[in-house]
Amino acid sequence: MFDINALLVLEHSILKMGLLMKVFSGRYIRKAYNAWADHYDADFRRNKWNGPRKLFNVLSGSYDLQRKGTKLLDLGVGTGLLSAEFKRANPDIHITGIDVSSGMLEECRKKKVVDEMVNANFEKNGIPCEDESFDAVVSSGVFELINKPRKVIHEMGRVLRPSGAFSFTVYADSPMDYSCIRHDDDVIEDALEEAGLEVEGKQRFYAFNHYGNDIYYNLYTGRKLSR
Ligand SMILES: C[S@@+](CC[C@H](N)C(=O)[O-])C[C@H]1O[C@@H](n2cnc3c(N)ncnc32)[C@H](O)[C@@H]1O
Repeated sequence: MFDINALLVLEHSILKMGLLMKVFSGRYIRKAYNAWADHYDADFRRNKWNGPRKLFNVLSGSYDLQRKGTKLLDLGVGTGLLSAEFKRANPDIHITGIDVSSGMLEECRKKKVVDEMVNANFEKNGIPCEDESFDAVVSSGVFELINKPRKVIHEMGRVLRPSGAFSFTVYADSPMDYSCIRHDDDVIEDALEEAGLEVEGKQRFYAFNHYGNDIYYNLYTGRKLSR
């Protein structure tokens, strides 16, 4: 009468869809990261999370972020692992960090590397900052939690000044089913073009180890086109 395998596949897809919808709602992210905040750094030290260091090395190798008063925005700042890299290299940089999790921001506050912290959901409500107010916009380990990358990239373009630099990571691939959102390269690259953000570098890199599996991300770097 009916194909049991087809039924199982359908059931699996529905379960997975439900899980994704739950996992990546703003409310779920806030709760999950609030619960994770006090041991996030220890976990990523163990997993050797390489995103912040990699992003910092690539961006600071090609763009001048050493000027006093350079304004940098860290989207999904978390506990400040990425911001810490930039602050260490230039104590005079001014960093704004946005995160939906107050628990992650509390941990970040202890590091004293972020000058201004904003508790907000930038995917849902946009980036609560003025047009062209940053010299650089960065984000590591966040796009795999974002449902609408086009909206977030548009917002990045809006708050970045002409010729300002951007850099962010996007989940690329892994040998196992790693439950986070993978965006097609075309979706990211079309969104960047629409936002007036020119890609100057894209590289796949080893991001961290997840229960014995190597996870790879892509790192996008570039500039906002001048008018
Ligand atoms: C995996 S952590 C990355 C933290 C840090 N950037 C790093 O590299 O260690 C992801 C962070 O993004 C935040 N986040 C995810 N989606 C967000 C959204 N829509 N608005 C604000 N923060 C968000 C989470 O709360 C979490 O702190």
